[in-house]
Parts: sequence; C-alpha cells; structure tokens
Amino acid sequence: MSNTTTTTTAAGHQGLHWSSRWAFIMAATGSAVGLGNIWKFPYITGENGGGAFVLVYLACIAVVGLPILIAEVMLGRKGRKSPIASMRELIREHNANAGWVSIGTLGTIAAFLILSFYSVIGGWAINYVGYTISGDFVGQTSDAVGGIFGAMLGDPSTLLFWHSVFMACVLFIVARGVKGGLEKAVTYLMPALFVLMVVMVVYAMTTSGFAQGVNFLFNPDFSKLTGEGVLKALGHAFFTLSLGTGVMMAYGSYLDQKTSIAKTSITVGLMDTVVALVAGMAIFPIVFANGMEPSAGPGLIFVSLPMAFGSMSMGTLIGTLFFVLLVFAALTSAISLLEPSVEWLEERSGFNRMTATLVAGGAVWFLGIATVLSLNVWSDVHPLGMFAAFEGKTIFDLLDYITANIMLPLAGLLAALYVGWVMKKEDVAAELNMSNGAMTLFWNITRYVTPLAVIIVMYKSIMG
Ligand code: TRP
Repeated sequence: MSNTTTTTTAAGHQGLHWSSRWAFIMAATGSAVGLGNIWKFPYITGENGGGAFVLVYLACIAVVGLPILIAEVMLGRKGRKSPIASMRELIREHNANAGWVSIGTLGTIAAFLILSFYSVIGGWAINYVGYTISGDFVGQTSDAVGGIFGAMLGDPSTLLFWHSVFMACVLFIVARGVKGGLEKAVTYLMPALFVLMVVMVVYAMTTSGFAQGVNFLFNPDFSKLTGEGVLKALGHAFFTLSLGTGVMMAYGSYLDQKTSIAKTSITVGLMDTVVALVAGMAIFPIVFANGMEPSAGPGLIFVSLPMAFGSMSMGTLIGTLFFVLLVFAALTSAISLLEPSVEWLEERSGFNRMTATLVAGGAVWFLGIATVLSLNVWSDVHPLGMFAAFEGKTIFDLLDYITANIMLPLAGLLAALYVGWVMKKEDVAAELNMSNGAMTLFWNITRYVTPLAVIIVMYKSIMG
C-alpha cells in the first residue's frame, strides 16, 4: 500500500488510508480490469451471439453491478477490516444473524477457485509473449495460428509450466508485500495497455471486417439470446467488476470518510466497461476479416490478435508489448484473488504472511492442474454431466461456470440484501452522503431491483 498515508482515525483499522480518491480508483480498477475484459468478455460475447448479449451485459453492470459495487465498498469502509472480520464487526453492530458472515466465506472460496484457472490463462499470455517476440505469427494463415494455439492446449507440460510461472509471480508479489510497487507501476501500465488496444482498434478499422465486427457487437439480434446467455451476462458483470469475493470490501476498508463512494465506484465501473468494449472492437473485426468464427471459445483472442500482429506493420513490437501488458493486467487481478485466502489463513491458523501465501498459493497451483488437464487428457471428463445444466462441461468449464454464474452472484446478492434490509436507511445515507434523489434511487434499486434481478435470472436459468 504505497499509495497511502498514515492517519489516526477514530475507527482504528491499521490507520491506513488511500492518499487520494485516484489511488483507490487505480487499485480497484487494477483488480477489475484483467483477463475478464480482454480474454473472457470477447469470447463469451462471441459464443452468445453478440449485440443482444452485450446489451444485457451493460444492463447487468448498471442495474446489478454498480449498486453491488457501491454496497461492497461501503460495507468494507464501515467494517474497516478484512472482509470476513468486517462482516463479523457489522453483524455485532447491527445485531444481525451470524449467517451473514457467509458473504465473506463464500467469496473467499470463490476467489480461490477462480484463481486456479485464471492462472492457467495468465500462463497462456506469458507464453504468447515468447511466440510473438520470436515472430512466430508473422505472415501466417489463420489455420497456422490456430494450430499454434491448439498445440499449446494439447500439451499439458507446456500449460503446467506457464501456469507455474504465473503462480510464482503472484506468490512473489503477495509474499514480499511488494504489492504497493506493483500498484504504482500499474498506474502507468494500464493506461499503456489501453492505448495499445486503441491502436488495435485503429488497425481493425483498416480491415475488411470492421463494419461486420461493430455490427456484431452493437446491433442486437434478440433471437440469438438464450436464458443461459442472460445468466452468463449477469455472472460476467460480477466477474469483471471483481464482485462477490470481498475484494472490493477489502479495498473499501482503506477508503477515507470524505470520499464519495458512489462517484468513485461509478468511475471504476465505467473504466472497466470501456476497456471491455474497446477489446471487443479490436477483436471482432479481425475475426471477421480473417474468416474466423466469433464463437471459437476461450482461444478467441489468442488466435485473432496474433493474426493482426502477424500482418500489421510493427506487429512484432506491438504484439509483444500487448501480451506483456496483458500479463501485468492479469497479475494485478490475480493478487486480489489470492488475498482473501491468505488473509483468512493468517487469521485462522496463525501462519505468518509468507507461510500463509505459500500454503494458499500452493493449493491454488495444485487445483490449477485440473484446468490444465481439462484442456487435453481430461477433455472428455464431465464430472457433473448427469445434471442438464452442467452437461458436457469439463472441470475447467465447471470451475468457471459455478464461480462466475452461481457463487459470485449469490455472495453479491447477500451483500445487497444486507445493505438494503439489515442496515438502516439513515446509516446508509450517512455513509454514502448523496443527494436525496440519488439516495432514494440507490435505496430502491438495492432493496428491490438488484435482488429480484439476481434471483429471477438465477432461478430461471438453473431451473431451465
Ligand atoms: N475482475 C478481474 C477480471 O476481470 C478478475 C478478478 C479479480 C475477480 N479479482 C476478482 C473476479 C474478484 C471476481 C472477484 O479479470
């Protein structure tokens, strides 16, 4: 936490506060912007038919994501401790049922499970730095580029190696506590990544697929939207804003009392959304220009972007930079995913930070092997295949599906219910310090709209 100043507060906490609203925004955006925006958003948009899915996703961000982001940051600032400890504190203060601690525990487990596959994908990105720098994509056909990706997926030892390298970086950062330095670096690296993506959009404009790509993203065809697609849009709103795992609560606990939670949260949400949309605008034109399928799945950016790098001028330089910056964006998200488990272990087992990091990280790494194998030797293993909702899903698919589409929305729903139904309106109003109109809007959305939306979408898609 280098971006903090030490102050003495009535609330106690570690006495640490973000030095400025901007520092909080950058740290929260560092957690939010990651593989979710650049890898996952384009490929699930491709799989779910484009425009209509994007529209539902944007609605989910506005109606569900932002209110829950505000709610989580507020719970964190009120509790002033780690997510689970904060919830215990608030429960005591509000005389609420001890079961509300599940907001923290559910989230800690979800973050642990997410990191196990997130790290494997982060490993792909590191590996792609090497491919791009050695010019492997220069002048290649889309079949050849697809072949490079397929060969990587088919080789468990390559995947395991890069997954291990990625996890080692995460452990190094979390154990050494050099997080502050990384967070500082990210204030330069993230804008750089954004600029590079805009460069890719400009390149995409010169391809024959630009109109088709933009049309695919922004022209909704509701006949392509399924109930399952709506659940995925909702789940992704949680995933991309880092909601439902206590991560934003943890960041909120460092926010000072003067800062407007609503304004800050909306800024974070806007930046995250813009990055995802820009990624889509860079990728889909290239997909169409090269006759690829938008529904190609998790490999979408790892096949489409290298095609562009292989044929544009300075492609090797731009491509290498792009994957380096993608790795940094993934790392800042990954450290926020490991943090809840490490904190929990420190509190529970009395391990010091180093030991807690090694134990939690080792366990995540080990679980990651299941994702590595799901992509090749276990690709036909479908452990929950007997349930219609999980038919044909590998262990990797299940980890992704159950965390993003079930656990995160559930934990987020509980946070909204806690704020809307356990806390008093005056308390919430005092904490958020908004105009009366804005407060009434937030209150009604958080009490009724957000919970109902989450419950209806989850019920409908899970019950078929
Ligand atoms: N939001 C990150 C992304 O889009 C992933 C992430 C980081 C995350 N921390 C999280 C997701 C906490 C859920 C909860 O890549």
